[in-house]
Amino acid sequence: MTATGHGLHPWQEWQGHALVVGPGGIGKALLTALPERAPHLRLWSAGRHEGDLLVDLEDPASLERLGQEAVQHLSPLRLVICAAGLLHGEGLQPEKRLSQVQAAALHRSFAVNAWGPLLLAKAVEGALPRQEPSHLASLSARVGSIGDNRLGGWYAYRGAKAAQNQLLRTLALEWRRRLPLACVTLLHPGTTATALSAPFRSSVPEDRLFSPDQAAQVLLTVLERQTPETSGAFLAWDGQPIPW
Ligand SMILES: NC(=O)c1ccc[n+]([C@@H]2O[C@H](COP(=O)([O-])OP(=O)(O)OC[C@H]3O[C@@H](n4cnc5c(N)ncnc54)[C@H](OP(=O)(O)O)[C@@H]3O)[C@@H](O)[C@H]2O)c1
Repeated sequence: MTATGHGLHPWQEWQGHALVVGPGGIGKALLTALPERAPHLRLWSAGRHEGDLLVDLEDPASLERLGQEAVQHLSPLRLVICAAGLLHGEGLQPEKRLSQVQAAALHRSFAVNAWGPLLLAKAVEGALPRQEPSHLASLSARVGSIGDNRLGGWYAYRGAKAAQNQLLRTLALEWRRRLPLACVTLLHPGTTATALSAPFRSSVPEDRLFSPDQAAQVLLTVLERQTPETSGAFLAWDGQPIPW
C-alpha cells in the first residue's frame, strides 16, 4: 500500500487508535514520529514504569488488564508496535560461552523477547478492527536469524528473538484466515544508539549507527509499505527480507 489516488498514504486518513509498547529509545522515537504519519490516530504508550497504560510483558495478569483496557478504550486499534526488548540488565548479560548460560536468564529473555509480543497480540486482539486494515509490528533483531548466525554467542537473546519470529509468523498465518485485514510484521531496526545497545556497539562505525529518531523513521517507512498480503515478513530497516 503506497498512496491513495490523491497522493496521500492511507495512514493519513486512518481513524482509531495506535499503541506503542515499550517506550524505550526506539519506542519513544516511534511515539514522536507517528503523529505526522497517522495524524488522526489517537496515540497510546504502554510500559512497565511509564506510559499512558502500564504493562509488564513478563506478567500475564498485567497483559490481561491491558487487553481489557484496549477493548474498552482503544477500539478500533489500527496500529500496534511492540518496541519492548531486553538484552542486558540485572542478572542478564549476553553470554559469550556455554558456561555462562543460566536458566533464569533464558527464562527472562524469552518472556520479554519471545512470547511477550505473542501474549501482547493475544491481549489486544479483541480491539483490532474486523472490517478495516490494521498492523501488529514487533521489533525483532537480525541476530535472531538462524540462517544468518555466523558469530554465535548471545544464546538467550538470539534464541528468544528467533522464537519470537516463529511465534509471530505463526500468528500471521492464523490471522490470514481469522483476521484477513491484519498485517503482522517483524522488524530489525539496525544498530541504534539506545540503552539496549550501549555496552555493545563500540565496533559499530558512527555512520552505521542510527539515532532513535532515524530508526523510527526508517521503520515506519518500511511498515507503511506492508499490507495484509505481505503479513508474516521479517524485514530490516531498509525493507529487505532477513533469512529466518
Ligand atoms: N538498539 C538496537 O541496536 C537494536 C538492534 C536490534 C533490535 N533492537 C530491538 O528493538 C527494540 C527496542 O529496543 P531499544 O533499542 O529501544 O531498547 P531500550 O531503549 O532498552 O528499550 C527497550 C524497552 O523495552 C522495555 N521493556 C523491557 N522489559 C519489559 C517488560 N517486561 N515489559 C514491558 N516492557 C519492557 C523497556 O522498559 P524499561 O525501561 O522499563 O526496562 C524499554 O522501554 C527491542 O526489541 C530490541 O531488541 C534494538
